[in-house]
Amino acid sequence: MRAMVTVTAPANIAFIKYWGTRDPRRVLPVNPSISMTLGRCRTTTTLAFTPDETAPDTVTVVDERGRATEATGSFRERVVRHLDRMRERAGRVGRFRMATRNSFPTGAGIASSASGFAALTVAAGHALGLDLSPAELSCLARESGSGSAARSLFGGYVEWPSRSGDPEAPAGPIASASHWDLSDVIAVVDQGEKEVSSVEGHRRAPSSPHYEQRQRLLAGGRIEAVRRAIAARDLAALGPLLEEEAIELHIIAMSSSPPIHYWKPATLTVLEAVRGLRRHGARAWATMDAGPNVHVICPAQDGAAVAAAIGSLPGVRQVIVDGVGEGPRLEPGHLL
Ligand code: DP6
Repeated sequence: MRAMVTVTAPANIAFIKYWGTRDPRRVLPVNPSISMTLGRCRTTTTLAFTPDETAPDTVTVVDERGRATEATGSFRERVVRHLDRMRERAGRVGRFRMATRNSFPTGAGIASSASGFAALTVAAGHALGLDLSPAELSCLARESGSGSAARSLFGGYVEWPSRSGDPEAPAGPIASASHWDLSDVIAVVDQGEKEVSSVEGHRRAPSSPHYEQRQRLLAGGRIEAVRRAIAARDLAALGPLLEEEAIELHIIAMSSSPPIHYWKPATLTVLEAVRGLRRHGARAWATMDAGPNVHVICPAQDGAAVAAAIGSLPGVRQVIVDGVGEGPRLEPGHLL
């Protein structure tokens, strides 16, 4: 057990999307999802645990300029609830002090909950002296409410749940980061917080008339086709599946009751530009999470050229070039 521990954990981008839960309380997904772990978009979290001290936990957010602010409201509540879960698991009483910082600009509209809750789970495990495997940590991270955090426990290409047919299974790697060097060029078109949370999106998804059709398509071979394309490093096979998945997620969101509209005009501008790049021979395909930003997946050697093309489009506020990366790790320096 360490008095203070610092962990960094990666964000991830889903190739097959998690959209809909079979058990919202236990955060069990309705279908398996597959993601690529990112290399540069990471959350670093420091935790200090003092046994037998009963003062409230403190949660500090450090921004990109190094300024620290005490978190309040729903973010603090979610963190403390997760720390409670971890204390309960360890059977320990005590107080946490936490500080957290994202490597990507705060408010860039990139999902930070997957990297954030993965880092928090691993750090809490160390701080409480729990000896947990990555699989156990993956299940605990999922229970934070951010299902995609279950995938951020592993580097490379990851499937959650790792055993088909068992929604309780943890995530697990299907290929290492060195297996395939892909880039994720992220076009940030809106920097605000999304109006409807993913949790609410999962809840509304079954109300869409397209929801069951998507489950049939997934079961009918799409998941297997994505696994095969990753194994064969076949971007021409993977790319169209990435776009189908992203568009379907948003069709379901837009046709849920009440509907959820995540897209901004610039979302369409980027999607059209990616199709244009392909017409000129580029190997680049788009995907999106539950938000307006577009992730362009391409071979690593094409990342800079794709970023240059996307960055000059109207409505694109920022471009982040990331790629496939490794799972969580301990860091020597602390934020507290
Ligand atoms: C569209 O419930 O994990 O990104 O906690 O907000 O990250 P956050 O969402 P979560 O749902 C993820 C939804 C998704 C698809 C995916 O990552 O699989």
